[in-house]
Amino acid sequence: MPSVIIAVDGPAASGKGTVASALARHYDFAYLDTGLLYRAVGWLAQQAGVGAENAAQVAALLTPEAMEQMPQLLDQPQLRHHAISAMASQVAAHPPIRLALLDYQKNFCANPPQGKAGAVLDGRDIGTIIAPHAQVKLFITASPKVRAARRMKQLQAMGEDVSEAAVLADILARDERDRTRPSAPLLQAPDARVIDTTALTAQETIDQALKVVSAITF
Ligand code: CDP
Repeated sequence: MPSVIIAVDGPAASGKGTVASALARHYDFAYLDTGLLYRAVGWLAQQAGVGAENAAQVAALLTPEAMEQMPQLLDQPQLRHHAISAMASQVAAHPPIRLALLDYQKNFCANPPQGKAGAVLDGRDIGTIIAPHAQVKLFITASPKVRAARRMKQLQAMGEDVSEAAVLADILARDERDRTRPSAPLLQAPDARVIDTTALTAQETIDQALKVVSAITF
């Protein structure tokens, strides 16, 4: 039986993770936050002292051994720090880096960990490139101001001292870079259902997503 795939895409800090993790819990599916993969690469580059603009040198860090360590690295809280966001979005624009992470994501879809019957992935290109065959595609969005305020709260909860202006600037710069890059840009799949969360609470967003998904038979 092929696994069920739920693809959740959207711009920075739109609430994709909240929706995707709630759906995974509800259906007992495996969950992959693909943004963490790019954050991990940004972090590895930073640790190695390699500039994000240097595609070949960054891609060379993704050895088979490094990819094997990836699941442990994804659990590191420092990947969510503000400073890693821009690094992630810069390395994510390079085709060799996207290619190096492709098999990991496709394999997660084809063989969800722990023998789960399905997988929920959130990111920018899940419904378009990673899993165009996904049974359910959601596109989660919200106004930049609301997204910046929500991300501020998350960063503050992690003890980070960043201004809201800096968070908004990071979100706008990443959106622009992610939308305009030639390789796997942030794009709403034509068959994706859009949920605008600007005026919704987290629970209202989850409820809307569950309503969409429960109407689809898989
Ligand atoms: O959590 P947030 O929405 O702020 O970002 P993220 O999902 O952790 O992703 C960080 C960066 O990774 C994004 O700005 C994208 O440049 C990149 N990314 C990507 O290119 N493709 C994905 N499937 C997921 C993330």
